[in-house]
Amino acid sequence: MLIDSHCHVDFPDLSEDITGVVMRARSAGVSHFLCVSVNLADFPRMVEITAPFEDISLSVGVHPNETLSHDEEPDANTLLNLATHERVVAIGETGLDYFRSEGALDWQRDRFAVHIAVGKALQKPVIVHCRHAAADTVELIKTEGAHECGGVMHCFAEDWATAREVIDQGFYISFSGILTFKNAGELREVAKKVPLDRILIETDSPYLAPHPFRGKTNEPALVRYTAECLAELKGITLEEVAQVTSDNFSTLFPLAKVSKGLHI
Ligand code: NI
Repeated sequence: MLIDSHCHVDFPDLSEDITGVVMRARSAGVSHFLCVSVNLADFPRMVEITAPFEDISLSVGVHPNETLSHDEEPDANTLLNLATHERVVAIGETGLDYFRSEGALDWQRDRFAVHIAVGKALQKPVIVHCRHAAADTVELIKTEGAHECGGVMHCFAEDWATAREVIDQGFYISFSGILTFKNAGELREVAKKVPLDRILIETDSPYLAPHPFRGKTNEPALVRYTAECLAELKGITLEEVAQVTSDNFSTLFPLAKVSKGLHI
């Protein structure tokens, strides 16, 4: 079985046909999904839309690119309360993005630190987004003690030095459809070096559809293409990739109710 460790099935592109999305994924051997929150305003809707599906776990958090007024900024108590929801297995997505946000970004670093504090308080891992901010992301993971709750660098597109730094902090590395892109040769070299017992796979759907669907709407069924790419890079079978990445997922997110039995 395959697990999509990071998707946004509550986003309109996918939620309009969420039953179809889940069915197609199950047919492709995907037996669990982590639906990742990007802001608190949409969290109740995400809980509601995904409620009929036992194989969807949730996270709660505010994405680093969400621009909010000061009084909307999530404080630790608000996040703590939402994160105690029984289907919430992780905190995020959080992290740093210096590509899409400009100016003084202390607020992004503060927000990231609040998410790590909540992860530590509840012993729920953090899901970390990082774009053009690798050094500061690693720095905050270290200074805020994120190894105490663990976490994952999602949609990984950084270099091997960054991967190794976060692995040393107990983090996992999640590869998305980017791994299959024709121009992602450097990332594939990084993937060869990341130990198998530290790897997760994801779609980040509806974004980042893998080759040969690049540019189209992505959905969890397509996580298989990233798994196949990884199998080739590691010189192992698709079944082995499925097994090890699913085991890794269950280790990192022990609260996720992953059912066994679906084979690919
Ligand atoms: Ni995402």
